[in-house]
Amino acid sequence: MAGRALLSSQNGLYAVAPLSSIGGRSNGFTASLPLLRRCPAAPIPSSTRCRSHLRTEAEELKKPPKVEPFVITTPLYYVNAPPHMGSAYTTIAADAIARFQRLQEKKVIFITGTDEHGEKIASAAETSGKSPSEHCDTVSHAFRMLWKELDIAYDKFIRTTDSRHEAVVKEFYSRVLNNGDIYRADYEGLYCVNCEEYKDEKELLENNCCPMHLKPCVRRKEDNYFFSLSKYQRRLEEFLLQNPDFVKPPFRLNEVQSWIKSGLRDFSISRSSVDWGITVPNDSRQTVYVWFDALLGYISALLEDGEKPGLQQAVSSGWPASLHLIGKDILRFHAVYWPAMLMSAGLSLPSMVFGHGFLTKDGMKMGKSLGNTLEPKDLVGRFGADAVRYFFLREVEFGNDGDYSEDRFINIVNAHLANTIGNLLNRTLGLLKKNCQSMLAFDSGIAAEGNPFKDTVEKLVEKVRYHYENLSLSSACESVLDIGTAGNSYMDERAPWSGFKQGGASSEIAAKDLVIILEAMRIIAIALFPITPRLSLRIYMQLGFSKDQFEAVTWSDTKWGGMKAGQIMADPKPVFARIESRKEGEDEVVQKLVKDKKKTSRSQGLVQA
Ligand code: MSP
Repeated sequence: MAGRALLSSQNGLYAVAPLSSIGGRSNGFTASLPLLRRCPAAPIPSSTRCRSHLRTEAEELKKPPKVEPFVITTPLYYVNAPPHMGSAYTTIAADAIARFQRLQEKKVIFITGTDEHGEKIASAAETSGKSPSEHCDTVSHAFRMLWKELDIAYDKFIRTTDSRHEAVVKEFYSRVLNNGDIYRADYEGLYCVNCEEYKDEKELLENNCCPMHLKPCVRRKEDNYFFSLSKYQRRLEEFLLQNPDFVKPPFRLNEVQSWIKSGLRDFSISRSSVDWGITVPNDSRQTVYVWFDALLGYISALLEDGEKPGLQQAVSSGWPASLHLIGKDILRFHAVYWPAMLMSAGLSLPSMVFGHGFLTKDGMKMGKSLGNTLEPKDLVGRFGADAVRYFFLREVEFGNDGDYSEDRFINIVNAHLANTIGNLLNRTLGLLKKNCQSMLAFDSGIAAEGNPFKDTVEKLVEKVRYHYENLSLSSACESVLDIGTAGNSYMDERAPWSGFKQGGASSEIAAKDLVIILEAMRIIAIALFPITPRLSLRIYMQLGFSKDQFEAVTWSDTKWGGMKAGQIMADPKPVFARIESRKEGEDEVVQKLVKDKKKTSRSQGLVQA
């Protein structure tokens, strides 16, 4: 086949070899294409569908309907350096969404992992004086440890150095090759190692600096294999027109559409200069481009333990993904390259790619390359996982950028979690202990009959659900807090303490009011669980439930009426301790701790890239 290289003055790309010379359709490879689900990307020829090793559609119809899992992914994080708050942000958001979907009784597969190949990782390993694999083990472990501290309940953790992943990548590559979408060409251009991407000169700053990493790009000339992205231009355009929800928030869809409209250029999917990677099938001198490799981690992660590794096996365990959560900097890879790769391989496309904004410090993207990171471990150590999770999800409108400030962190967390929610629970339980021996005298359904407060809570909790469904995590937090605020107002207006003082019928009304507020607290605990799982458990236990009962809760339990007469509450104990601001002088102590920690990290070979 004649080379189909793009002749670009920017990138100097020239075809050098026809496909047949590097192994194409004639290599005997036969792909087993899956039945397409959700956004079908490529119409599968009926001849392909009828292959003997595939189930026929009639057989497929006989089987009980398969419950489609909700598959959510975070990016696979580079292991050039330990995680920072920027990487933690995506993972916290993904965890909150996964927890909400589990509450909705969906079968959730939450995938995260580490991206371990490529030039950037190889040079980080060299700087740390370790072999690439030792280096990757150390940093990948650091990610898992942080996820534990942040209560991230992932289902699958994929490492791109896993041999099972490698098998999937090779099979996928061969499938794309077999489809005639890979060819060989010379490439010359400016490469940003931090982005692991060739850049267009017109998008660079002075001195050919990458606008994201503020470091000069290097000129490279390579003999590579290319993926025929340009071939998919029209299909991508049509796909986005038919599936406008594929890219969220909506303003990012416009961005993607304009990239595509401006013309798609084939991109190189192998490196001859990089050893640390997966070898290209049929050419041991080249390794697979780190992005082509890593994106496939979303599929290989689905392989069941002990299952024979293979593309088809992985795909049938849950592909396509329901939601890829990513930062806006890697939108092009996920919303342009990835769908085209999937189309080429005859696989279904994910349902949605959500590109969130950046956590910034002084307006600059917080990142390892600029060295302006915030240490999530320090934050968790000082304030606890719930506070960290709550602050970032509440403070940053999901999709937009958000700046971190410690004062704001402390103010928000104290005002919302310690005061509005924690204090309300504490003072209600205090009154119940004093006046009702910590026992509920009424079912909450009976206590709230005809009471508009109940309607307010019901409406608000429905809003919370709506916001979670729409990935508006900050608004979900806000609506939960509105329940707390309404509860505080109710308490102040009704002043049950004076009803108890008066005795008789007033005392009965006051006892009902306490049940009503505690029912609202129970609903708050469930509604906030995706964001602050530990706090929710503490609230539930204060309300006299066991851990097992808490673990069995679903979203349907947010319905009014869960608190029953006779239920005994635990002794009132603050569920969320107020954070005290640092006193003068403490800052130096903390800075010293951070410095000492950096030294230890360095001696352990972890590089702050
Ligand atoms: N390895 C690739 C992803 C491959 S996915 C198949 C990668 N890794 S990364 O470690 O550089 O970035 C991972 C994610 O962290 C990206 O979504 C990126 O946007 C996010 N963040 C890194 N710094 C960030 C902030 N300061 N704020 C928010 N998220 C940011 O890209």
